[in-house]
Amino acid sequence: MMRREQNELLTRTDAGTPMGELFRRYWLPAVLASELPENDAPPVRVKLLGERLLALRDSNGQYGLVSEFCPHRRVSLWFGRNEDCGLRCAYHGWKFDVKGNCVDLPSEPEDSLVRERVKLKAYPLIKVGKVLWTYMGPPEHQPAPPAFEFATVPDNHTFVSKRWQESNWLQAMEGGIDSSHVGWLHKATIESDPLFSKSVGNKYTLEDSRVMFEVVEQPSGLYIGAKRNAENGHHYWRITAWIMPYYTQIPPRADHPIHGHFWVPMDDENCWTWNYDFHPTRPLSAREVQVMENGEGIHCKIDPVTFRPLANKDNDYLMDRESQKSGRTFSGIEGFAMQDASLQESMGPIVDRSREHLVATDLGVVLARRQLLQAANALAERGAPPPGIEPATHLIRSASVVLPPGTPFMEGARKALTVREGRAHTSV
Ligand code: FES
Ligand SMILES: [Fe+2]
Repeated sequence: MMRREQNELLTRTDAGTPMGELFRRYWLPAVLASELPENDAPPVRVKLLGERLLALRDSNGQYGLVSEFCPHRRVSLWFGRNEDCGLRCAYHGWKFDVKGNCVDLPSEPEDSLVRERVKLKAYPLIKVGKVLWTYMGPPEHQPAPPAFEFATVPDNHTFVSKRWQESNWLQAMEGGIDSSHVGWLHKATIESDPLFSKSVGNKYTLEDSRVMFEVVEQPSGLYIGAKRNAENGHHYWRITAWIMPYYTQIPPRADHPIHGHFWVPMDDENCWTWNYDFHPTRPLSAREVQVMENGEGIHCKIDPVTFRPLANKDNDYLMDRESQKSGRTFSGIEGFAMQDASLQESMGPIVDRSREHLVATDLGVVLARRQLLQAANALAERGAPPPGIEPATHLIRSASVVLPPGTPFMEGARKALTVREGRAHTSV
């Protein structure tokens, strides 16, 4: 059980809060590169850590992330004109570059000092893979660019999507490291979904619901091992990787692409769920890309402007009681993404963790919370650099393996848990 004040600390991410300051030390996925497809593309609204921002790409291809509101009379610059290396406010024509500098202030004399004083708040925005990343912390602590494998493999090996989730970031992230729900909530879907089906691991997942957990703490996060029975006394291990505070990688199945998520707060009651799928050693097939675009696997069908899922709380996630009854799906809701999101959003915008009853299968969740609390407090009290900001710590993988009885997974699967260039992920 968590104390109320610990829950508050972990779930509030505005500027000046301990968790907000922690998040501001990491590169955060901000927008898809495809949202700014060309120079002078229209600005894109994005809310991150409680701040309303605009992602920009100027006439020279420079990216930037700036405050949404014009310093003059506070209108939204989203209505502005993106032209000649700057965004010009639609109201009185003040113009700003991607670094937030005011480069034209037509209502004032040329030498007016006002121009110096009206800078927009601005953050760097860089392209790594198919994602534009931002860093919202103190400039002197900006880490080297992120090195997550899905973002560094060739573009045709990887697929990235995002969706708006109407809950606090932490209850969403906790779903990503809670392997014990897979054999229940996703019961039928792991066999029917084209990006999960035909794995021997599915049989073990479905046949053994008494999952045993072993969690190994790493300097930058956790490996969470879920152990189920396989044949001849052997064990099927699904090992999830978590990097502080926001990155999870799901154990793979067969030769399907390996996948996972980022969970990034929009504000305290909403988050961005980023979904990536990639294969380390081969391009994704046309069929795989097609089903991902169609919202299968860990992706889902969304409104292309707001990124809100088409199945959402206003329509009860298109719940189908007949499908629930027949077992075509376990919960009556289609697809992994909305099976998860429906339940996580059902907890309310910020779940009250002081009222939970945790059991042994929640060990990963418990240890992740502990690491987050320690890191946020260490940063607030001593300025200690948070774990997981160094690119070298991003080079990890999840894995699924069958190991002989009595073998700790860190021993039996050690090599499988790090990125080995030119080698595929380890999966059964
Ligand atoms: S409100 Fe933007 S220029 Fe006046
Ligand atoms: Fe799930």
